[in-house]
Amino acid sequence: MNIEGSIIMITGASSGIGAATARAASQAGARLVLLARREERIAKYAGELGNALAMRCDVTDKDQVAVAIRRAEDTYGRVDALINNAGQGLEASIEDIEIDDFKDILALNLVAPLIMMQAVLPLMRAQGGGSIVNVSSGVTFYPRPHSGAYNSAKAGLNMLSSVARAELADQGIVVSTMLPFVTATEFNDALKAGSKTQEDEEDATFAHTPDRVADRILDLIRSGDEQADLVPRRFGGSLEE
Ligand SMILES: NC(=O)c1ccc[n+]([C@@H]2O[C@H](COP(=O)([O-])OP(=O)(O)OC[C@H]3O[C@@H](n4cnc5c(N)ncnc54)[C@H](OP(=O)(O)O)[C@@H]3O)[C@@H](O)[C@H]2O)c1
Repeated sequence: MNIEGSIIMITGASSGIGAATARAASQAGARLVLLARREERIAKYAGELGNALAMRCDVTDKDQVAVAIRRAEDTYGRVDALINNAGQGLEASIEDIEIDDFKDILALNLVAPLIMMQAVLPLMRAQGGGSIVNVSSGVTFYPRPHSGAYNSAKAGLNMLSSVARAELADQGIVVSTMLPFVTATEFNDALKAGSKTQEDEEDATFAHTPDRVADRILDLIRSGDEQADLVPRRFGGSLEE
């Protein structure tokens, strides 16, 4: 799909990878719909970028998502690409994960992308096609201790994304999965529970920039490839270090 002139909706656009993807897509000539809960931030970004609509939206809330899709349609008439990027981590051992936290992590990282896809699909079908990128994580390539809640949610997202791709292929709707690795964002400061481990600190010595991930996400939209990863080979990915 061509980025130039397209309408791209990005969830979790108020920081990190989402904000970087908004910048990159804007520079490539897209018009944007920015979603997040921190409205002042996305409103500011939208003002800086121009050609962008900012909407407060908790993506775990079906009603708020429905309103966001309707407003995007009313404003632009279409949504060519959806980037399901909003996410949150949790660091705890299997024994210590609070069940309510586990449910919240699933709700945001796995259920919300389904809510978003279900909400945008009728519009994409009516307009004759579209592109969806689900942002998962390279941690799904290995059973990292203390990643149980987040890793399970993202592993579920990988399969949800693959099934959606298979189901929608003949409708002109292309679903892809992006698997970033450690990226320098607010992610580790915004954990649902727990805190950075020694391993995180070591990983952080080679953290990617959010701009690098953003470029790969836009490449996925352009190519329609099934997935892309920024995971070093020694962690099971395809990235030569
Ligand atoms: N950073 C990494 O090392 C890394 C590695 C692999 C994958 N990822 C994935 O990359 C994606 C982006 O993460 P990031 O690293 O850019 O982290 P980040 O800077 O913490 O950004 C997370 C974004 O998600 C949004 N968000 C959280 N809960 C939300 C909700 N209920 N409704 C709407 N938006 C919500 C936040 O906005 P508000 O708080 O304003 O709502 C924020 O914009 C996530 O899916 C993450 O799992 C990150």
